[in-house]
Amino acid sequence: MVTENKTLVVIFGGSGDLAHRKLYPALFQLYLKGSLNKHFAVIGTARRPWTHEFFREGVIENLSDGTLEQRQAFAEHFYYQSHDVQDSEHYVALKNVIDKLDDKYQIGGNRLFYMAMAPSLFGTIAEHLRSEHLLSHDGYNRLIIEKPFGHDYESALALNNAIVNTFDEDQVFRIDHYLGKEMVQNIPCIRFANPFLNAVWNRDYIDNIQITLAESLGVEERGGYYETSGALRDMVQNHIMQIVAMLAFPRPEKYDDRAINQAKSQVFASLPVYTPEQVQAKFVRGQYGEDASGKQAAYRNEDKIDANSTVETFVAGEIDLDMPQWQGVPFYVRTGKRLPAKKTRIDVVFKADQSELFTEQPASPVLTIEVEPDLGIELTLNGKEIGTSSLIKVDQLQYLLNEDQQKQVPDAYERLLLEAMLGKQGNFAQWEGMTGSWHFVDAIRKAWSQEKDIDFPNYQSGTMGPKAADELLSKTGRHWIYQG
Ligand SMILES: NC(=O)c1ccc[n+]([C@@H]2O[C@H](COP(=O)([O-])OP(=O)(O)OC[C@H]3O[C@@H](n4cnc5c(N)ncnc54)[C@H](OP(=O)(O)O)[C@@H]3O)[C@@H](O)[C@H]2O)c1
Repeated sequence: MVTENKTLVVIFGGSGDLAHRKLYPALFQLYLKGSLNKHFAVIGTARRPWTHEFFREGVIENLSDGTLEQRQAFAEHFYYQSHDVQDSEHYVALKNVIDKLDDKYQIGGNRLFYMAMAPSLFGTIAEHLRSEHLLSHDGYNRLIIEKPFGHDYESALALNNAIVNTFDEDQVFRIDHYLGKEMVQNIPCIRFANPFLNAVWNRDYIDNIQITLAESLGVEERGGYYETSGALRDMVQNHIMQIVAMLAFPRPEKYDDRAINQAKSQVFASLPVYTPEQVQAKFVRGQYGEDASGKQAAYRNEDKIDANSTVETFVAGEIDLDMPQWQGVPFYVRTGKRLPAKKTRIDVVFKADQSELFTEQPASPVLTIEVEPDLGIELTLNGKEIGTSSLIKVDQLQYLLNEDQQKQVPDAYERLLLEAMLGKQGNFAQWEGMTGSWHFVDAIRKAWSQEKDIDFPNYQSGTMGPKAADELLSKTGRHWIYQG
């Protein structure tokens, strides 16, 4: 049975893209499923002077499921408050609206503050929420924050310091939407609910682990942001690191949020800080040129991009965790724009049989976790050719969710919003983990900033990135399992 959540959601940046495309549809799903019902209200805030009616129409326009009556009834819970986050007096007006709606919908003081706007304003908002008494004394006060959380360790620390004056760590929910994906949340289950897998999930049996987050699109209209970020900050520091942690954390004592987060923090603490020489040997960056037909522009010719930009749109690298169970097991990671297809997948490559039992060398068994667009698991195993031959044949067992099953999978934002309402911290980025991943990424960034003669663009749009990304593995006799 679904339990109704009583909550008042205040969205800073309520007129923005994220709110309309992701948050309102996600809240609507919770409404359709009964997790939100009577006792909830959403206040959208931004500077522009909208009416409640105009705001509600915009919310409804972005909903696709349910009946018209359901959409309208849902939108009735939405209110718009014109609000400049830098104006103290506006918080007084906002507090009045919050108090009235809390009363009207009998919410009991539960407040979820969602920062769907530029991180440079997070500190100001958090400060004002405290100084202008917008925090409730009856229910919970929780803060949801979007990425980017800083652009290096120092700025992330400053951002965190600006928030911790108002909110304790267990009240802060840092969204990493990859942690809301079905197959990423499935990793602990796959690992620990199958003892035979757990038994071999270590350096004795695993040769290497590969994580690929490929995007087929280019930078699109995000050029301005991307020029200050690049693939390393945009994808590696957060999403890829979280997936590494999910794959590498030691078996926790209990299967609960606190225990899992503690186990994950051991992985983040074990991230190396590479020297410039190590960066050069273990990390590769790239930038896309035009495609073979010349129809898709090179990164440097995209809107809002510097014609001589050295920002990377591709990163591949090797992460060596300083944990006894992972000594000698490289975690190869790879992400890029304008690759052949959108694909997120994990390949756990097991050691091949090295004995001379067979006349030919068996292949490395591989466990593949398909994250998107397919969802499922594949196991590549050695078997025997059919018939009288005893030659080895590689077979693949595959379980992919069908269309009906995929429809049952909640969107990442729906899942994470619900978890924040329930106070479940297990699928949110923790500050401790961020510290380790920023130090790791900063060292790479620093080494790259000292390199001269950057030969960009170095891969054609529609290909799997620069040659050097393949060489990263081939120099040790390995190869990327996913070839695009
Ligand atoms: N869009 C996505 O899919 C996505 C995905 C991941 C992360 N994010 C992150 O989420 C945040 C929001 O992204 P977005 O794409 O939604 O941006 P956006 O469309 O530009 O929205 C920004 C919002 O902030 C409001 N705003 C700006 N200055 C304000 C001020 N001084 N006081 C009050 N409101 C102010 C804007 O409304 P007014 O101009 O009317 O004030 C608008 O509602 C960013 O940090 C972004 O990096 C976005």
